[in-house]
Amino acid sequence: MSNFKQDLGVIGLGYVGLPLAIEAANSSLKVAGYDINEDVVSNLSKSQSHVEDISDTVLEDALKKELFFTSDSKVLGECEYIVISVPTPLTDYQPDLSYVEAATKSIAENLKNGQVVILESTTYPGTTIEIVQPILENISKLKAGEDFFLGYSPERIDPGNNEWTFKNTPKIVSGIDKKSLEKISKFYELIIDQVVEVSGTREAEMVKLIENTYRQVNIAMVNELAILSNMLDIDIWEVVEAAKTKPFGFQSFRPGPGVGGHCIPIDPKYLSFKTRQVGQPVRFVELAQEINNSMPNYVVARLSELMNKNEILLKNSKILILGVAYKKDIGDTRESPALDIIKSLLEKSVDISFYDPHVDELVVNKCSISSEEKMENLSNYDLILIHTPHTKFHEINFESVNSLIFDSTGSFEISNAERI
Ligand SMILES: NC(=O)c1ccc[n+]([C@@H]2O[C@H](COP(=O)([O-])OP(=O)(O)OC[C@H]3O[C@@H](n4cnc5c(N)ncnc54)[C@H](O)[C@@H]3O)[C@@H](O)[C@H]2O)c1
Repeated sequence: MSNFKQDLGVIGLGYVGLPLAIEAANSSLKVAGYDINEDVVSNLSKSQSHVEDISDTVLEDALKKELFFTSDSKVLGECEYIVISVPTPLTDYQPDLSYVEAATKSIAENLKNGQVVILESTTYPGTTIEIVQPILENISKLKAGEDFFLGYSPERIDPGNNEWTFKNTPKIVSGIDKKSLEKISKFYELIIDQVVEVSGTREAEMVKLIENTYRQVNIAMVNELAILSNMLDIDIWEVVEAAKTKPFGFQSFRPGPGVGGHCIPIDPKYLSFKTRQVGQPVRFVELAQEINNSMPNYVVARLSELMNKNEILLKNSKILILGVAYKKDIGDTRESPALDIIKSLLEKSVDISFYDPHVDELVVNKCSISSEEKMENLSNYDLILIHTPHTKFHEINFESVNSLIFDSTGSFEISNAERI
């Protein structure tokens, strides 16, 4: 592509950065993957992937191309394009941009004329120009838009989704100016089927937030209606299925035990942080968060009610949780509602076990709980809570299980199960 030794440097080799590095290598680009975690770099270099959507074989094949991993930030000075895909969590309920700032400093210390920097981490509108640009300019003494180029492109990766992949999901791109946008579009066109330009970095940052806020709000609405329908003795699942037959104007969302992962529970908080700077809360979003955050407690209350009806005392009862990941067929437990459900049940002296084919261990209240090795003896529990609708659980013959069953996912046809 240019005189640079590498076409692309990816900072942060997690759920977002690793697929990008591999897709770029598969599109014949010369790629350096940079991560501060030396274990991550060492394992990836040995073709051991920690990201479920990337198998060891896919990684091994990509490593045969022009791809390598390193913890040496000097490599960043050798790449024409640099993508930042580091975490943007909440710390003390506030947006924590310290990872983005640290990654940007590593770039700035190595920045060269002609380089193009793209932020992909999810964040609030204004981050690229208010945080990233000043760090790059102040440390490098180079000028954005003249000496180097800068933009933002939100990541839409959906772990576990085989239909909409990194390559066929349209990519939003933006630049701080025309030249930056041109360069950034050209780059993504090399590796992604469809690139969608927006006029500025703030708009692109907002696109990601609107997408996840939309999910947060609609999930909250159906969760609230599920609680109310239960009180009215209406089957919400039947209602949602029937409403779904409307071919226009309705998109179905399903009730569940809450929202998890590093997007839906977190991104709307980035949005409300920003709007509060101009003196306005995002009322819809904050209400939606409140409803979704209350779902784990609602599930616990329903379990208690179900056991009560069956004359089983919650205290000292044995409960098995099927699935603790925040979504189907992946092993990510970050912000999973299962964590709050387990915490609450432990406080009530319940004997908790879990089985998750994708998760070996879970840490709750600083204690580590290991997954059961097999799905057997399911009748040995007082109650089984289905928390995550993993495909593997469809192998279970729930009808022959004697324990009480609560399916918080509504994904299994079990005649003797309660649902949300
Ligand atoms: N996971 C998803 O499904 C998803 C989807 C869309 C957007 N996002 C967003 O993408 C960003 C990255 O998320 P992720 O899930 O890939 O995170 P992750 O935790 O899986 O990976 C991040 C990696 O960045 C590395 N890192 C941290 N600080 C660094 C630094 N200063 N220099 C170099 N490496 C550093 C970490 O060691 C880690 O390996 C976040 O902003 C997230 O909100 C995630």
